[in-house]
Amino acid sequence: MDFRKKTVRDIDVAGKVVLVRVDYNVPIKDGKITEDMRIRASLPTLEYLLEQKVAKVILISHLGRPEGKRAEEYSLMPVAECLAGLLPDKTVRFINETFGDGVRAAVKDLPEGGILMLENLRFSPDEEANSEKFADEIIAATGAEIFVQDGFAVIHRAHASTEAIAKKLPAVAGFLVEKEVSSLEGAMTNPEHPLLVIIGGAKVEDKQPLIDKFLPIADMIAVGGKIAADGYRATDSKVYVADSFVTDEKGAKLDISINCVTEILAMILKAKTVIWNGTLGMVEDERYAKASLAVARALGSRDVFSIIGGGDTTGFVESIKDENLHFGLVSTGGGASLELLSGKKLPGFEVLQDR
Ligand code: 3PG
Repeated sequence: MDFRKKTVRDIDVAGKVVLVRVDYNVPIKDGKITEDMRIRASLPTLEYLLEQKVAKVILISHLGRPEGKRAEEYSLMPVAECLAGLLPDKTVRFINETFGDGVRAAVKDLPEGGILMLENLRFSPDEEANSEKFADEIIAATGAEIFVQDGFAVIHRAHASTEAIAKKLPAVAGFLVEKEVSSLEGAMTNPEHPLLVIIGGAKVEDKQPLIDKFLPIADMIAVGGKIAADGYRATDSKVYVADSFVTDEKGAKLDISINCVTEILAMILKAKTVIWNGTLGMVEDERYAKASLAVARALGSRDVFSIIGGGDTTGFVESIKDENLHFGLVSTGGGASLELLSGKKLPGFEVLQDR
């Protein structure tokens, strides 16, 4: 499917200061990053820009929800250290500010071909307010000449770093955004049939738009997880809802039963494309992760184009750590992939230059 936005391939970046919005909102425990998938996913764009001999790369991101106040536990410094470890022969520096004279001096001091990561954008309330002034301040301090949006996971937000800033500079997509949007839009508009959509998770209000969107497109829809345990009722014969469960000693329904997984595995055997959003049980406890594990193993070992989305589901799939499993796309975006698949427009994507 044709990608409708310009990408880094369509713009001359050589010798330019390039501002790259990444989503490095990664889990951190005791100062250590526990899952670096989003950082690794940004490497193809960064490596490409450096190969094209950009003057400097400035990285911007948020981390967590510090609500407009500086809070050290949300500093991006450990993330910059992790990135430096992934790019050992590059200069990767960090500055604990987002604009002003400190940033100006750090950019000046950065050698050609170096990467400078700014501090968490959400330490300022102006970020989520989509403030023009904040966008101008970042551009002025960094001297950015081109904007690259590669933070797919935050592209559904209309924030200063995703929208306001993209209106002020030539703005193109990075490879991660291109890959995610193409795969997800392709599965909606031109999937190889039969298409199976597996929905799990906890909040029916989040997932109902996805079910509605895919009713006319999918050949089969299977619903598990807490939604099914809470008694979700299908309105269409195409929708299978798990109806028996593994329970704890108090009778709480925490995973779908082996019989229900068997039904879903039979659907996977028929499918050519599978979209999976939401775990089927309470996977944090391995006693209740069996259905999700069976589905992940079936998807990862079969000749089927699989798209895994939703923060809990991708985190679970990543945690399996079995290199024999291969998936079509493990989306880095939780809310972003859900919104895209539900048919919503993504402000951080729409604002990029059209092809
Ligand atoms: C995410 O983790 O889904 C993104 O980084 C967006 O974060 P947010 O939901 O706090 O805007």
